[in-house]
Amino acid sequence: MYKSLIRPLLFKFDPEEVHHFTFSLLKNFGFLAKLLLPKPITDKRLEREVFGLKFKNPVGLAAGFDKDAKLFNELSDLGFGFIEIGTLTPKPQPGNEKKRLFRLKEDSAIINRMGFNNGGVDEAIKRLKKNKNVLIGGNIGKNKVTPNEEAVNDYKICFEKLFPYVDYFVVNVSSPNTPNLRELQEKKPLTELLSTLQNLNLEKPKQKPILLKIAPDLTDEQLLDIIDIVKDTQIAGVIATNTTLSRENLTSENKSEMGGLSGKPLTKRSTEVIRFLSEKSGKAFPIIGVGGIHSAQDALEKLEAGASLVQLYTGFIYEGPELINEINKAILKQKI
Ligand SMILES: Cc1cc2nc3c(=O)[nH]c(=O)nc-3n(C[C@H](O)[C@H](O)[C@H](O)COP(=O)(O)O)c2cc1C
Repeated sequence: MYKSLIRPLLFKFDPEEVHHFTFSLLKNFGFLAKLLLPKPITDKRLEREVFGLKFKNPVGLAAGFDKDAKLFNELSDLGFGFIEIGTLTPKPQPGNEKKRLFRLKEDSAIINRMGFNNGGVDEAIKRLKKNKNVLIGGNIGKNKVTPNEEAVNDYKICFEKLFPYVDYFVVNVSSPNTPNLRELQEKKPLTELLSTLQNLNLEKPKQKPILLKIAPDLTDEQLLDIIDIVKDTQIAGVIATNTTLSRENLTSENKSEMGGLSGKPLTKRSTEVIRFLSEKSGKAFPIIGVGGIHSAQDALEKLEAGASLVQLYTGFIYEGPELINEINKAILKQKI
């Protein structure tokens, strides 16, 4: 029903407007979605224990969709096993100028240059207090006005404030839309950032898993560095991958827009990154696989490549909420 009826209607309008519209629909008429959509699959065999947390199923919502933690209860009702909120920054910020979100229909893709638009960590916390038992990842970043030399402080603020309200953390240094942010993926600043956060974590009576989210545009050499850094700092794992700067083989009108590309053109590369990290590290840490999952098969390939869990964003927009059940059904069938 989504692809034949709802999507054609939604895709007639500006993507960011549609995002806000569907948000308020789900917020106010979430019960209708529950009535109309197939019931989410629950099955003991879908449960996963990864980095010490219990997931009801391995299909999560990727960061950027519910940046401000406004809809995680309703999104979880659609069947997601976990919801990642953010990227949140210490202070609220408007993000880049509109228009900043583009559909590439012919390529089943999106280009975005949102630029961490969010209401700030304090506002999100107010809403997280209303969590009805949803497993939440807290994706954190730095404000645009904070220079890279002071970035650690922004991550520390978000980490400390969010600590009581999220189940795991994601350190986002891989968005292409905050100037120079990706430079923090280099060995020295990244080791400093992650060890600072991990030290704060170790001061807590009970630690929370810290994951690093990486770009798909890293070279093999940089990926090998990432493996060393994850091992050295003993963080819990990696999310692979964020959006790409690559523009290979695109046909849609919007293909030259600036920003990060997500969706089908990213499927292969993000799976490659997962496989590389898994093989070269000797499966030393769990990986959450994200990037261009538009079908159950895409998700199975990421799990087979070494991911323990998967996340959706662009595939959720193009294929609809039914995709969650499709993936979970396929996992049950394959007995993964
Ligand atoms: C509009 C949009 C906004 C995003 N915002 C964030 C963000 O704030 N933080 C983040 O870590 N990733 C963000 N992402 C990246 C996604 O979480 C995901 O890593 C990426 O889109 C690849 O997955 P996909 O092909 O399933 O969309 C965003 C993606 C899109 C399309």
